[in-house]
Amino acid sequence: MTNSEPKIVAFCCHYCAFAAADLAGVLRLKYPPNVHIIRLPCTGKLDALYLLKAFEAGADGVIVAGCLEGSCHFISGNLRAKKRVLAVKSLLAKLGIAPERLEFFNLSSAQGDRFAQLAREMTERIKNLPNPSPLRGRGEPGVRGSGDEKEARL
Ligand code: FES
Repeated sequence: MTNSEPKIVAFCCHYCAFAAADLAGVLRLKYPPNVHIIRLPCTGKLDALYLLKAFEAGADGVIVAGCLEGSCHFISGNLRAKKRVLAVKSLLAKLGIAPERLEFFNLSSAQGDRFAQLAREMTERIKNLPNPSPLRGRGEPGVRGSGDEKEARL
């Protein structure tokens, strides 16, 4: 992985996306090594603050991957997570950060190929945005991001 490779954090539900990522590994499907998986018991556990903290800690992109709609083991955790992701995307846009840096996906544990595919697509998407993310290091004293991403894209 080179320095220009984007860092992507994937918050994955234990029952589906994490199992799909595991299956992708078992099937030896290739996906970029810059996707760092954090396993959650359910995406309903995800707090909007975790998403912002991930960006602040250096992620250039964040994936949230939960069970298929109607298949969440905690009934509606994936629906709540999707709403939170949409709210944070809206917040990012207001801050001048490309909302495409954050995405929610539904997948089943049998979709190892889809996990590998979305990891590749998200990496390509982030590579087309200014790198690093303007939010990187914003929480550290004396460290500033590169500024408004809307301006950087013009
Ligand atoms: Fe998978 Fe809720 S158990 S998203």
